[in-house]
Amino acid sequence: MAKDVIVACDFSDGKTCLEFLEQFTGRKPYVKIGMELYYAEGPQMVRKLKERGHPVFLDLKLHDIPNTVMKSMKVLSSMNVDMCNVHAAGTVPMMEAALKGLTREDGSRPLLIAVTQLTSTSEEIMKRDLLIQEPLQEVVRHYAENAKTAGLDGVVCSPLEAGFVKEHCGNDFITVTPGVRFADGEKGDQVRVTTPARARELGSDYIVVGRPVTQADDPVAAYRRCCEEFLNIG
Ligand code: C5P
Repeated sequence: MAKDVIVACDFSDGKTCLEFLEQFTGRKPYVKIGMELYYAEGPQMVRKLKERGHPVFLDLKLHDIPNTVMKSMKVLSSMNVDMCNVHAAGTVPMMEAALKGLTREDGSRPLLIAVTQLTSTSEEIMKRDLLIQEPLQEVVRHYAENAKTAGLDGVVCSPLEAGFVKEHCGNDFITVTPGVRFADGEKGDQVRVTTPARARELGSDYIVVGRPVTQADDPVAAYRRCCEEFLNIG
């Protein structure tokens, strides 16, 4: 199965993002664009990154009625993104509609993954605000199984949950994991973190790394270190 290091390009404008990526003259990183950059720059940002040879994970976390999600996914698919996502909370019919919208006439499509519970949601908040009384880990498992039932490719989860998800959904069910830090680096606001090497041991397929690369004194060297640790390549 494909494994890769995805650089979270959490920049507020396209110019800064493109200037940042120009430093990478060798291997072109897989990049993640989130809502901030996409809402600022729109589809042209995806096109520019694709033209420059970067695989793109468009992290827009769709969650709406099935018909709306299906039509929106059709648009994202025509933009030729490589990976996109929905909230598993949108239910199995919504995820099935997303997959249908994403699938092109020739049967090809970007990877589709689901967010289970956001890492900003604690078990306490989930119980209080969402009235979900099950343990958080059980909710993550159930939502991951729903994503698999709907035909999705995998989920976003903590590297610490990657093995657990694969145990229940199969080894070929993709785990995309943020919360990655170098052993000697700053944690920032992330709490449950692992190193790229540990994420590989735990079964992550794609690690999402933001600030350890974007804020590094030498981003190219930091990216290379992620690749060495996670992919065993220089
Ligand atoms: O800078 P850092 O490495 O913490 O960036 C991690 C990226 O992954 C950010 O874009 C963040 O929004 C995203 N993310 C996360 N935790 C999740 C889902 C996404 O940190 N559960």
